[in-house]
Amino acid sequence: MSRIAIYAGSFDPPTNGHLDLIQRSLGFVDRLVVGVLNNVAKAPLFTADERQALIRACVDDARVDVRIFRGLLVDVAHEVGATLVIRGLRVVADFDYEMQMALTNRQLAPALETIFMVPSLETAYISSTLVKQVAQFQGNVSGFVPPPVAAALRAKFPRT
Ligand code: PNS
Repeated sequence: MSRIAIYAGSFDPPTNGHLDLIQRSLGFVDRLVVGVLNNVAKAPLFTADERQALIRACVDDARVDVRIFRGLLVDVAHEVGATLVIRGLRVVADFDYEMQMALTNRQLAPALETIFMVPSLETAYISSTLVKQVAQFQGNVSGFVPPPVAAALRAKFPRT
């Protein structure tokens, strides 16, 4: 039986940290569904279509399927046949929120396991929120995101 995982997030925008986790996940899953969802607590800069296109531009692997979803993560996982949810734990500050989400999802769908992954040391500090701040004030984001995302950020925040 093939092992399907869902790596869900808002990916607004996708960063080198997200790409690192996608590559790491492919070390132990047969198929990875990258689920672009909206985090209701955040207003996205990029549309879901843009985020999907950016991830697709950066990931070239037939085992990865990038899709846009609405609704609950547990329902999305069920829909795609995923038994695993991948989440990255970057810093201690992530822990409370991630633990609450994982336990809430377990209450909703007991058979769905959340896997917390440790990112590479080089990407562990990168956050989409901070990348957007840097881009907004014309900072250099090339150390945080792949070239297609850097170009998309420049287009969102043109020099005036
Ligand atoms: O990258 P993010 O913003 O940390 O991703 C959070 C996301 C989108 C995975 C989370 O908000 C989510 O799962 N949203 C879908 C709605 C849902 O299932 N909420 C309850 C989860 S406990």
